[in-house]
Amino acid sequence: MFERLCKNNNYGNLVNGDWVFSEKNIDIFSPTDGKLLGKIQSMTKKEIDNVLNLAKYAQKIWAEIPLNERANILHKTAILIEDNIDVLSNILQNEIAKNKSSAESEVKRTAEFIKFTADAGKHLEGETIDADNFPGFNKNKISFVSRVPIGTVLAISPFNYPINLSASKIAPALVGGNSVVLKPPTQGAISALHLVELFEKAGLPKGVLNTVTGKSSEIGDYLVTHKHINLINFTGSTNVGNHIAIIAGMVPMIMELGGKDAAIVLNDADLDSTSKEIVSGAYSYSGQRCTAIKRVIVLNKVADELSEKIKQRVENLTVGTPQEDAIITPLINNSAADYVQELIDDAIEKGAKLLVGNKRFDNLFYPTLFDNVTENMRLAWEEPFGPVLPIIRVNTIDDAIRIANKSQYGLQSSVFTKNIDDAFYIANKLEVGTVQINNKTERGPDHFPFLGVKSSGMGTQGIRYSIEAMTRPKSIIVNYSPLTSLK
Ligand code: NAP
Ligand code: G3P
Repeated sequence: MFERLCKNNNYGNLVNGDWVFSEKNIDIFSPTDGKLLGKIQSMTKKEIDNVLNLAKYAQKIWAEIPLNERANILHKTAILIEDNIDVLSNILQNEIAKNKSSAESEVKRTAEFIKFTADAGKHLEGETIDADNFPGFNKNKISFVSRVPIGTVLAISPFNYPINLSASKIAPALVGGNSVVLKPPTQGAISALHLVELFEKAGLPKGVLNTVTGKSSEIGDYLVTHKHINLINFTGSTNVGNHIAIIAGMVPMIMELGGKDAAIVLNDADLDSTSKEIVSGAYSYSGQRCTAIKRVIVLNKVADELSEKIKQRVENLTVGTPQEDAIITPLINNSAADYVQELIDDAIEKGAKLLVGNKRFDNLFYPTLFDNVTENMRLAWEEPFGPVLPIIRVNTIDDAIRIANKSQYGLQSSVFTKNIDDAFYIANKLEVGTVQINNKTERGPDHFPFLGVKSSGMGTQGIRYSIEAMTRPKSIIVNYSPLTSLK
């Protein structure tokens, strides 16, 4: 297994069924110990043109293959992933410093996602619509509406789930009859390319799934504005998403972007379980999750007790390597850690109370907790993508809602309370894609709708939603004459 994609530690791109190597390479180093993990290809624009031409051609053939056969290939891929959990999990640990248990869970979840997608795809059904419902029309017209592929999908995934967030674009696109060009994150490409080899091994026809690697500063804009791309499915930062949305023009897009998810804690919340959910939600994978809890907004009456409970849990978080299965592992690179430091320094300078942390060795950032964060601090609004959590104290529920909604982001929020009326009052007012009542913010289960509003994205994902978003209705209208014998 995996003998085709790699030659002498050099990872190729899958192009029309072959693993191809470019003239220039990019070195990929481990965020944990700086060791060289391998090289990926730095593709040229000419090579990208070739990939997109081939993907366009292959899509037409793929769309003709019966849906149940397309679904079978996905099921085979899922089995291959399950057979390779250890290999894939080790690569994730090395390449993106994700701890062992989270890496394993990313891989297992990916296999489950693909199986569920294959089955959901088989339930893709059309409808017929009569014409006489609309004034001025009668029964001699009927629309046969089916769902058809969109064409070639450009899938762009981020570093923090290079396997899962690649598969969650590839599988729904494929079952819907599209071809896919995957642009994986540069740091995370080795993991994603292994996944792609498993799709290939499962029997995908050539050209249906292809990969493009290279520096986004060199090829990113070229790729997203390419005339052969029919849909862009992007997960990543709001800055990059916004840039793509501006330059790509009239092409459908699904975007899952940044977040600043709030955990709103009311006076009657169970503070033990709330603090547990908050710490797990905020610090797992060192806070490098779009759905991480990135601020706590708590009512004054219980703020002292809650912050003490959170503090105790944060002090007990393990810090170390992915292989040790530490909760806090090195951040993806030094500049990510520099950014976290900037937000911390700003909060300290403006008078926030440091409860734990603010300790760092290069890109290994210790879990950091602040109380008394106020609206004039960057930490109240910006997404650190690191292990630092601000606690913001408020006097009223409406103030909590106001601060939650003042964010540019709108991915998810949590509300912790025993009072279902209060929970719904708040949930109805929050400007986010999803509200979790008495749970941390998180994406799964993966068949639930997952979406961000405002600067957190556009379009909806989640298995059935993703398949629908990557197919379109096609209406064929039959116009028929009344029986001549009746005339
Ligand atoms: P990123 O820097 O925006 O990169 C995401 C992907 O976009 C990478 O593959 C990157 O390639 C590529 N890219 C960058 N510039 C591009 C361009 N001009 N054209 C085409 N592609 C381009 O994000 P990240 O650092 O990997 O991930 C962290 C961010 O993603 C956070 O903000 C997080 O909240 C967000 N995120 C959101 C969700 C969600 O579902 N809402 C999920 C996960 C992550 P290179 O690696 O080569 O630069
Ligand atoms: O940041 C990636 C996003 O998709 C979150 O997934 O499962 O960590 O909530 P999850």
